[in-house]
Amino acid sequence: MADQDAQSSVGFEPPALSVLRWDELPEGPVLVLLDQTRLPAEEVELVCTDVPALVRAIQTLAVRGAPLLGIAGGYGVALAAARGFDVAEAAGLLEGARPTAVNLGYGVRRVAAAYWAASGKGEGDAAAAAAALAEARALHREDAQASGRMAEYGEALLEELLPGRAYQLLTHCNTGALVSGGEGTAFAVALRVHRQGRLRRLWVDETRPLLQGARLTAYEAARNGLAYSLLTDNAAGSLFAAGEVDAVLIGADRIAADGSVANKVGSYPLAVLAKYHHVPFIVVAPTTTVDLETPDGTSIVVEQRSGKEVTELTSPQDLSADGGGGIVVAPLGAPAYNPAFDVTPPELITAIVTEEGAISPVTGVGLAELCARSSQV
Ligand code: MRU
Repeated sequence: MADQDAQSSVGFEPPALSVLRWDELPEGPVLVLLDQTRLPAEEVELVCTDVPALVRAIQTLAVRGAPLLGIAGGYGVALAAARGFDVAEAAGLLEGARPTAVNLGYGVRRVAAAYWAASGKGEGDAAAAAAALAEARALHREDAQASGRMAEYGEALLEELLPGRAYQLLTHCNTGALVSGGEGTAFAVALRVHRQGRLRRLWVDETRPLLQGARLTAYEAARNGLAYSLLTDNAAGSLFAAGEVDAVLIGADRIAADGSVANKVGSYPLAVLAKYHHVPFIVVAPTTTVDLETPDGTSIVVEQRSGKEVTELTSPQDLSADGGGGIVVAPLGAPAYNPAFDVTPPELITAIVTEEGAISPVTGVGLAELCARSSQV
């Protein structure tokens, strides 16, 4: 029944989500974010007038997901420049807001470099601020374009690996329009397959502890009319065992030079399951997520978050500065382990899909070639 409903919604296009936009108000420019902590209950905008507000939004996950963090960081530098704040200090605060997604530092440094280049030419503060904003907009636009190309390459790869099939795809965390200038990374592939009438079902991991799957991916899947089912993270193993997963599609927060992939915690166990069950495990990410300066998985800094996100069932909008604020489910003071990400080694990854094409098997040489192609554009 759900499949039929989804098939009948093929061709239906919901209005695009306004996830992040620059706005010029009489009192000055602002960065307007769709507050992701409030989804799916309400679509509420969060207006950032300064960099500390944006840093808070990043740390509380009001804005999140690797590509969007890069875009937000870039606009954050432009905001500092336009409002006359210290750009070097702003860049430092933004880049340090979260450690794992390499796109954040990439976006911040790229826009700051455009600012310093214009300011170094003695063009004045207004011209330097305009150069920063133009660079942030270019980054935003390029990410949207990359998203479309990843969807094409990802779909072609699925056809190559699993010809002539309608797929049951499993995904983890959230990788759609909420993390991107376009329609996302892994989710954009599922969406393209859906539009072609070839998505049997998207299995959506709830993604504990902050439920990006349940709150955000299910929201995006429902909005776009995909056939989807939500599962607890623990239920994935039984799905593989039942032969109900044709491929796993995930995004990435940082891809090291050897092809190791940091992504939302829970990705690595899925890769192990996929290997055991001979199911393709596919990572979809723009080349801006590849960090050739980080040699391997052990060198990736994994963000550790408050234990309260584990000891309490947290509704993210209740997050206090140190996490928590939800229903307590553990003894008072229970110690907790709460890494936000885990690292999957290249030998467990069938392919990495970028806007420059896909590599399979995943090797450092292949990754470096993709990055070289992207820097020639
Ligand atoms: O902690 P989050 O919600 O920012 O984590 C996001 C993820 O892990 C995504 O899977 C990743 O950024 C890829 S999105 C293209």
